[in-house]
Amino acid sequence: MDISPELIRILREARRVAALTGAGISAESGLRTFRDAQTGHWAQYRPEELATPGAFRRNPKLVWDWYAMRRGRVAEVEPNPGHYALVEMAQHVPHFTLVTQNVDGLHVQAGSRDVIELHGNIQRVKCFDGCGVVETWEETDDVPRCSSCGAYLRPDVVWFGESLPFGALESAVEAARACDVFFSIGTSGVVQPAASLAYEAKNRGAVVVEINLEPTPLSGKAEFALHGKSGDVLPALIKRAWG
Ligand code: APR
Repeated sequence: MDISPELIRILREARRVAALTGAGISAESGLRTFRDAQTGHWAQYRPEELATPGAFRRNPKLVWDWYAMRRGRVAEVEPNPGHYALVEMAQHVPHFTLVTQNVDGLHVQAGSRDVIELHGNIQRVKCFDGCGVVETWEETDDVPRCSSCGAYLRPDVVWFGESLPFGALESAVEAARACDVFFSIGTSGVVQPAASLAYEAKNRGAVVVEINLEPTPLSGKAEFALHGKSGDVLPALIKRAWG
């Protein structure tokens, strides 16, 4: 793994580090990324067709079953060395903020604390009519009803066209603007507003480091673009910086 000594020096001296992760960091745990093709029964649908309020209104059972399948997958997998490397990085850096677009909960499961879950968490459900009820997911065949108002319960994740959880984006932007080093890890950088965080950091003078399997629109603007598996690159980075 070819890692620049300059990057290692910068990391050792950094006081504030922010990291944004996407589906790529969970790929080595065995979870499909968003741009991976869906398989089996679900191959006939695109995530963009299912992860919307309109899709849920039209066919709540279909959307519920898709999330039940995804939750089932999440329940079968474990965090991977990439998740654990970020837990370790937080122990070496005075101020570390982890922001994720993932709803799989694997960062928390690996031991990361105060994770900013920009797109929610698939382990939770909430009232579709927004009466405020939020519950942990219970395995049910039928779409469950809100205990308070009787409306359907829905996955507590951000669907296309919805706004992000109140406060989450503000905290993420604040961390991006304040950091010395900003990591963009395992994300194609195509979905806003998460994709703008790296530019918020860069515009405030942060060093941007991309760790991704393939080039993205950010690669040419990052000071360091490390193309490889996050489960390999992150542990190598931690070992070189603080081994
Ligand atoms: N290590 C590092 N990067 C990887 C790995 C890996 N092992 N495997 C895949 N990748 C990269 C892919 O090359 C791709 O660029 O991870 C990226 C995953 O991109 P997407 O599938 O677009 O996932 P993501 O960027 O998280 O999507 C953002 O879009 O669909 C919405 O809300 C959904 O949170 C999601 C958002």
